[in-house]
Amino acid sequence: MHQMIRPVHESTQVPAPRLLSRIVAGVWRMGDWQWTAQERLRWIEQCLELGVTSFDHADIYGGYTVEQLFGEALALAPSLRAQMQLVTKCGICLRMEDRPAHRVKHYDTSFEHIVSSVEQSLRLLRTEQLDMLLLHRPDALMDADVVGAAFTHLQLQGKVLHFGVSNFTPSQFTLLQSRFPLVTNQVELHPLHLSPLHDGTLDQCQQHRIQPMIWSPLAGGRLFTSDTPQAVRVRDALTAVAARHGVSASTMAFAWLLRHPSRPIPVAGSRRIDAMRDAVGALDVTIDAQDWTEIWAASTGHEVP
Ligand SMILES: NC(=O)c1ccc[n+]([C@@H]2O[C@H](COP(=O)([O-])OP(=O)(O)OC[C@H]3O[C@@H](n4cnc5c(N)ncnc54)[C@H](OP(=O)(O)O)[C@@H]3O)[C@@H](O)[C@H]2O)c1
Repeated sequence: MHQMIRPVHESTQVPAPRLLSRIVAGVWRMGDWQWTAQERLRWIEQCLELGVTSFDHADIYGGYTVEQLFGEALALAPSLRAQMQLVTKCGICLRMEDRPAHRVKHYDTSFEHIVSSVEQSLRLLRTEQLDMLLLHRPDALMDADVVGAAFTHLQLQGKVLHFGVSNFTPSQFTLLQSRFPLVTNQVELHPLHLSPLHDGTLDQCQQHRIQPMIWSPLAGGRLFTSDTPQAVRVRDALTAVAARHGVSASTMAFAWLLRHPSRPIPVAGSRRIDAMRDAVGALDVTIDAQDWTEIWAASTGHEVP
């Protein structure tokens, strides 16, 4: 009998369906913006108009205040909920006056904490369901069986659709992935912080066809404000490559991230819609390996070996 032999490059897996918009809006800093609920709603609407339909939260943002600020804005136009994806995180316990049980800042990845944190996020965000829940930080005391049970419980109850992690090393990711299917690892990556490119984090994402979410894609603004020699070199390179493509340096910073084959999803954190537009503009920019490496080399201070 003749047997079909599959070419080695023909994969049996298909890419996962898109769960989030290609650029996500991060709301970590929303508490600092000192906006009215109407102003917050306007920002949300403008993000949606740009196709930035996913919003990245955490229970602790703004000292446990941002989910409520966002939920209040959403309550002014509840029909918008159907057009957006809500991501939040849990697992970090901050020391706060109104949380006297937290004697020290610590991590809690117990079943009870994960479930009660999600229930609180749902109340504050005024929604019935989260699109994605991430464990915010790796916890040395994490029991993978317990986290897997909490995720399963929340999914069966319809409270959370998808689950992932943030700031996990590849081995921490592999451990939890052995108990529950994870859809992302949200990590820091920008030209001033290259380690996920080289420590196996993005290799693992490609291996599992999991899109990494990228926090602080502009290094929290330091790409444009820092005067360290490295930042100055990176800024000069970004500006030069951007000029060749006829775009802003900010757009080029996003295009540099999007060039990676793991298909990263940048989480942009600006209050300015123009800055969000810069991020979205990168979706139309394709840079080649030499452009990409020019920025990498500016960061490392040397050419590739
Ligand atoms: N998982 C985690 O551990 C983790 C950690 C940190 C953040 N995050 C997520 O990632 C999101 C994004 O983080 P991020 O806010 O640090 O992202 P970012 O986009 O790298 O930085 C945004 C900051 O940079 C400033 N900025 C933007 N363009 C600028 C320019 N051209 N010149 C000077 N400053 C500029 C913004 O100010 P303006 O608002 O004035 O533009 C804002 O303060 C957060 O909201 C959060 O959702 C996750």
